[in-house]
Amino acid sequence: MTSQDKSSTNRIGRIVAVTGAHAVILIDGGSDAEMRVKTPEIGTLLKVDTPRTISLCIVSALSSPMPSHMPDEPETRIIEVEFLGELPKDERGAPMHFRRGVSCYPSLGDAVFRASKHELEKAYAYHTDTAIRVGHISQDEAIPAMVKIDDLLGKHFAILGTTGTGKSCTVALILRRILERNPQGHVLLLDVHREYAHAFKDIAEVISPANMNLPFWLLNFEEIVEILIGQQPNRETDVEVLRELIPIAKLRYLNNQRRERPALQRTREQIEPSSIGVDTPVPYRSSDLIGILDEHMGKLELRGELAPYKRLKARLEAINRDSRYAFMFGSLTVQDTMSQVLARLFRIPVNGKPIAILELGGLPSEIINVVVSVLARLAFDFGVWSAGRVPITFVCEEAHRYVPVDRTLGFEPTKRSISRIAKEGRKYGISLCIVSQRPAELDATILSQCNTIFSMRLANERDQAILRAGISDAASSLLDFMPTMGTGEAISFGEGVALPTRIKFDTLPADEWPMSNTASVTGSWAREMPEEGFLQDIVLRWRAQSFAPEGSVFDVPQQATFGQQPNQPAPTPDLTAPLRRLSASPAPKPANGEERQSLASLIRQIRS
Ligand SMILES: Nc1ncnc2c1ncn2[C@@H]1O[C@H](COP(=O)(O)OP(=O)(O)OP(=O)(O)O)[C@@H](O)[C@H]1O
Ligand SMILES: [Mg+2]
Repeated sequence: MTSQDKSSTNRIGRIVAVTGAHAVILIDGGSDAEMRVKTPEIGTLLKVDTPRTISLCIVSALSSPMPSHMPDEPETRIIEVEFLGELPKDERGAPMHFRRGVSCYPSLGDAVFRASKHELEKAYAYHTDTAIRVGHISQDEAIPAMVKIDDLLGKHFAILGTTGTGKSCTVALILRRILERNPQGHVLLLDVHREYAHAFKDIAEVISPANMNLPFWLLNFEEIVEILIGQQPNRETDVEVLRELIPIAKLRYLNNQRRERPALQRTREQIEPSSIGVDTPVPYRSSDLIGILDEHMGKLELRGELAPYKRLKARLEAINRDSRYAFMFGSLTVQDTMSQVLARLFRIPVNGKPIAILELGGLPSEIINVVVSVLARLAFDFGVWSAGRVPITFVCEEAHRYVPVDRTLGFEPTKRSISRIAKEGRKYGISLCIVSQRPAELDATILSQCNTIFSMRLANERDQAILRAGISDAASSLLDFMPTMGTGEAISFGEGVALPTRIKFDTLPADEWPMSNTASVTGSWAREMPEEGFLQDIVLRWRAQSFAPEGSVFDVPQQATFGQQPNQPAPTPDLTAPLRRLSASPAPKPANGEERQSLASLIRQIRS
């Protein structure tokens, strides 16, 4: 077949109307069967040859204004397209790299063809050092779907989809591929459901409340107010007292340090007392704060005036005793560990672990709110004070919880910290990855700052409408597929990808899945559960606020509903770790295969 023959089989029709980037194409006439072959799907990439370029357009609508009544009766079919980009031709007329925008507009009567494989490759598959493959495009399995790392992480991106559509797997897939290419990356991932340690294993620093140290003095005033005062009535007096006393406690700590370590005065660590404010991240002791409260109470006489001091003191003492806050208030000695905290969170140096996973599961929501606020703020401030020299990606799962559209919900400082990254983070190298099941419940400004979006299946109309509102016609016609897409499929659009398109993500091997526990109810209900000691162990962990290690007895990985999964054996969980932590007894030899013992017998073994 000559190239002329090939292109004529790919011919679809001719342009009969053009307005801006929008054009109408009349499909060439023919038999019913021929018309069927010629009619493309929504989202198909078509091309128009112009003297200096190949203009590329995406099918956004199909219609038959005069439908035939009989099978062989001729029918008029038209398609609407949006021009999105072009492949400039070299001097020999061969297409070069894809670029957005159209410099040479097609005209009336121009012939329209399906894009060839080579042109699809040029348009979608960026084979450069700074692009990674995440899957393939739906139009042709052989064409990889590529993501441009700099465009994706230089700004912000979102992964949206109903529960179970594969958001977490997509996060794991994209981050893994990026970090394989950039092992010196810096990613901080907020893991509310404790699912990602399994996905990243040895390249992740897993930080949980049990091994975390986020000293309370790193909190800004709003955050400490939330913890110590909360939303109680008459909070204003308490807030004012705290505002007055915190700088005093900070100065007291500073003066003590200077007395104990006079050398400090001559070092770069020297902090000018005059620069200490209520938000300055310098250490102070909660015992000093209690002492100062006592001193003030000693000077006051009126009962009413004493009340806020008493409340604050009682709350501080209670929090110091509360094991859930141990990672903030638990340290007996207060030292200036700010650099160490930043080093661990933001992976500086990377030390082979470019991603820090912050496991927040099990913490009460008010603590999660404060922790998320502190981390987002630290990330932003770090970007500002380091002048963006270390780009950091901040991954926020369940983002609608922290930045809800409803202004009466959520925690103000958290909303502010995340919004600040969304609006200004780019200038300081801080990018956001927003993951959410409910785009309609997510603050619209956050979503509008996301320059790349992967939208997986979304059945809810409000969620679809939110996405449709902010995007071009071509991509919005693709969004019609949203309710019907399969697991692991997405419509991708924005700067991180070449063109808006429907893609199928690559299959993640089972040992790299997040342990999201897509429960097989029938599987669980077919087994006799629970074993002896099951409930006692749950109660033990619950009270000790200590989780099972990743992959507990309940987290049996499921056979994926997604593509073909390699036949991976379920990872053998180390069932004894939480008990070891509690009893500090030596680790028994890891169980494997048939030797795996029930949790109950292990508990007995360790106790004896
Ligand atoms: N790229 C993929 N490779 C392999 N399996 C996948 C992939 N995407 C999705 N799956 C399958 O889909 C299941 C659900 O995926 P995932 O946990 O990522 O969904 P989710 O959207 O994060 O759900 P939720 O909103 O409840 O957190 C996985 O357990 C896995 O079986
Ligand atoms: Mg998930």
